[in-house]
Amino acid sequence: MIRFDVVTLFDGYFEPLRTQGVCRRAFDSGVVQLRTWNPRDHARGAHRTVDDRPYGGGPGMVMLAQPLHAALCAAQAARVAAGLEPAPVLLFSPAGRALRQAAVQELAASCGAVLVCGRYEGVDQRFIDLHVDEEISLGDFVLSGGEIPAMALIDAVARLQPGVLNDALSAQQDSFSDGLLDCPHYTRPPRFQDREVPPVLMGGDHARIARWRRDRMLELSWRRRPELVRELERQGRLDRADLRLLAELRGEARDDAGAAAAAGTSSGP
Ligand SMILES: C[S@@+](CC[C@H](N)C(=O)[O-])C[C@H]1O[C@@H](n2cnc3c(N)ncnc32)[C@H](O)[C@@H]1O
Repeated sequence: MIRFDVVTLFDGYFEPLRTQGVCRRAFDSGVVQLRTWNPRDHARGAHRTVDDRPYGGGPGMVMLAQPLHAALCAAQAARVAAGLEPAPVLLFSPAGRALRQAAVQELAASCGAVLVCGRYEGVDQRFIDLHVDEEISLGDFVLSGGEIPAMALIDAVARLQPGVLNDALSAQQDSFSDGLLDCPHYTRPPRFQDREVPPVLMGGDHARIARWRRDRMLELSWRRRPELVRELERQGRLDRADLRLLAELRGEARDDAGAAAAAGTSSGP
């Protein structure tokens, strides 16, 4: 069982996770548990204010440290009352470490985390300094709140829990699980608008199919994310057939670069 405690002003975001698709199965079976904590419930004053203007002036509002602090303490106390350890505190922020599958896998094998969702201009820095173990970014763009990154993280973790996917093998073959992008997939019919399914996939030779898939993973990764291939190479995780294909792809790239240089244009990886 893995448990997420989410500190959020907008807990309605999380309802669809409980009721839709693969995540619903994770919640129904109890392998993933989720509880939300609204800082407004822990705010002081008749208006239960959760934000204020930034010191130093400027646009927007900043989330107050006190309601966040109180919501976080309540979440950790509830975890302890449920027999769990207090969990690491993760804050979503564009300034955080980019979310990667390796971190998702690590979290999936843990007891969970407290996820803090920022809003407005962000969170009072003193709350971050006092309580946050790690800041996580969903990418180099700005969302209006941390709820969508929190949902993305919970979804990515939930589908790795035992019994959640119909076929456990599919998570092992997904992009990034062994360091490469996934291969292309085809289903019926065999011909669609003059385009055929690659014949090897129709031939029933499982060894050839596995090699074709591995080659396509390597080729796609090399063309779109060459750093993934270089990392596997550095770790000695490419077999002889992988290295042969990689040599061909590098030869093609050199030929393209030569042709581009001769034509006065630039070319790919
Ligand atoms: C409008 S944003 C604040 C942006 C902040 N002023 C900045 O420029 O970095 C409000 C909240 O959304 C969340 N957020 C926005 N973009 C994000 C991203 N790319 N990754 C993770 N969280 C993000 C954070 O929790 C943030 O505190």
